[in-house]
Amino acid sequence: MAKKDLDWSNLGFGYMKTDKRYVSYFKDGAWDEGALVEDDTITMSECAGVLQYAQTIFEGLKAYTTEDGRIVTFRPDMNAERMINSAKRMEMPPFPKERFIDAVEQTVRANADWVPPYGSGATLYIRPYMFGQNPVIGVKPADEYQFRTFVTPVGPYFKGGAKPITIKVSDFDRAAPRGTGNIKAGLNYAMSLHAIVTAHAEGFDENVYLDPGTRTKIEETGGANVLFVDQDGNIVTPKSDSILPSITRRSLVAVAKDYLGLTVTEREVYLDEIGKFAECGLCGTAAVISPVGCINDHGKEIVFSAGREEMGPVTKKLYDTLTGIQMGHLPDKEGWVHEIC
Ligand code: PLP
Ligand code: COI
Repeated sequence: MAKKDLDWSNLGFGYMKTDKRYVSYFKDGAWDEGALVEDDTITMSECAGVLQYAQTIFEGLKAYTTEDGRIVTFRPDMNAERMINSAKRMEMPPFPKERFIDAVEQTVRANADWVPPYGSGATLYIRPYMFGQNPVIGVKPADEYQFRTFVTPVGPYFKGGAKPITIKVSDFDRAAPRGTGNIKAGLNYAMSLHAIVTAHAEGFDENVYLDPGTRTKIEETGGANVLFVDQDGNIVTPKSDSILPSITRRSLVAVAKDYLGLTVTEREVYLDEIGKFAECGLCGTAAVISPVGCINDHGKEIVFSAGREEMGPVTKKLYDTLTGIQMGHLPDKEGWVHEIC
């Protein structure tokens, strides 16, 4: 076994078939014991619940090579818990937390040659997911499911890496009040496809969505939570029942308070007040923390005072501290780093 011969430093955020994936089937009311398989394809009924009524949920986390050569992941227990919440909301059988962590460990270990080397800027993206498999034609939950996990090496989610991006205020909503915005269901992403294609066609990197109830408050983007830095260098992050509880955002909030001594306020953030912030960043597993230089609100450019050329100083400190913990060159005070091999 040897590391794959990839141009690690120039990877984009894309899918590449790796050696093994984990599969467990749910039938007759129970999950089977699960196994690693080589086949990357899935055969199912034309009437499968996932195909007809989008009964599918997923997670996203990463594996990293540390400075001293270990392969680790970050807070997989949080992803397991979030997937259990997603499953309950979608009337799917929750996949037990310890089994989720075991599936992640097994899949990463079996694909260790695909884990990008330390310092390459790339990481191994881990995608656990679950879907309804048996035929469903009346609107109801499936009785049979698959839980699967695959991995793929990835580079930065936004092209240009650390250069601030420009996002637009979307005219579409990604979630409904009391809908599924706070879980990781495929349907939320299907909802956002037309909006992202439109934003890209207009030259923007992403959409920021407003709260679907009043359309006056900042929610999140298609794949990340939002974090602002005020003029005193403190953090403000939107609070809403219809955003996904990002593990990265919750970790950055702890980093800001406990490692950097900053004040963090989680509150409703109105679109008409964001011009006063110094910095803005998008946080998520894929995005890590990607700086935003400008939010375009129907032609009105809201430019953060840290500017459009460089990541702002507080965003940079948050980025360096979080990735430092993940890569093993800063102390892991909270026990977030989970060693795989
Ligand atoms: N918000 C949305 C809509 C996402 O898809 C993601 C990605 O998982 C996030 C936020 C960030 O969450 P996390 O930090 O747990 O990856
Ligand atoms: C992640 O950050 O894991 C996500 O799921 C975002 C996705 C849009 C790539």
